[in-house]
Amino acid sequence: MVLKQALIFLGPPGAGKGTQSKRMAERCGVPHLSTGDMFRDAVSRGTELGRRVKPMMERGELAPDDVVMQMVEERLAESDCARGAVFDGFPRTLPQAERLGKILESKGFGKPLVVDFCIAPETLLRRIAGRWTCSVGGEIYNIYEAPPKIAGICDFDGGTLVQRADDRAEVVKERLAAYQRQTRPLADYYRRLGVLEEIDASASVDNVSRALAKIVNCGDGSDGRL
Ligand code: AP5
Repeated sequence: MVLKQALIFLGPPGAGKGTQSKRMAERCGVPHLSTGDMFRDAVSRGTELGRRVKPMMERGELAPDDVVMQMVEERLAESDCARGAVFDGFPRTLPQAERLGKILESKGFGKPLVVDFCIAPETLLRRIAGRWTCSVGGEIYNIYEAPPKIAGICDFDGGTLVQRADDRAEVVKERLAAYQRQTRPLADYYRRLGVLEEIDASASVDNVSRALAKIVNCGDGSDGRL
């Protein structure tokens, strides 16, 4: 990511966007903006926004574009986003992508860099079934691929690990359908803009990070190594 650039991680549920965007945001020293995390936080705090989106999330449907955009625009106005951000799970519809493009332009950002996480559906289901997340710091684990040292406890802050309410099989089916219907077309949209890069997201966590490091320039003179 060069200075003043947005990095967008695009891909289906369970592709590893959250895992990699946390690493990338830390590496580049910019915020990690996950609209899913922002909604889950609002739900757990019982805010008006949380009460509005909770039923949609429980059904695996997307939240309305105007709700998403208001939340993102408020977040982007904060000073820590001045140099860029890693977007995880946003944008997810064409109207969101078009609106984001206008916001970035008005803030004097260059074109975003969009990375499409390519992965087979059967791998996604296994990853989602094995996912546990820290209830305190949000660290993501997987009981098959990346287990914590002590079952049920976060290695970093000792928080309790929990499973997401929308990771039940019937909700996952709807989330995948929503992805195909509403988000998949964004790959073509960004390809036409000439800003899309694809990575093999089925590789190990470290190998996906290495592949990303070759694509993303943090603007700090790093040579792309982890
Ligand atoms: P959101 O939270 O964005 O969920 P998602 O896009 O469905 O993506 P996930 O978080 O499920 O997967 P991920 O790709 O981040 O994978 P992860 O890194 O965790 O959205 C939730 C809901 O919020 C939506 O359904 C919608 O209702 C609403 N919403 C959010 N944004 C919205 C928007 N813009 N517009 C409208 N509505 C919106 O990895 C998965 C598992 O695999 C983990 O266990 C991890 O440890 C493991 N893993 C990761 N990488 C690897 C690897 N390389 N090898 C092996 N295991 C791996």
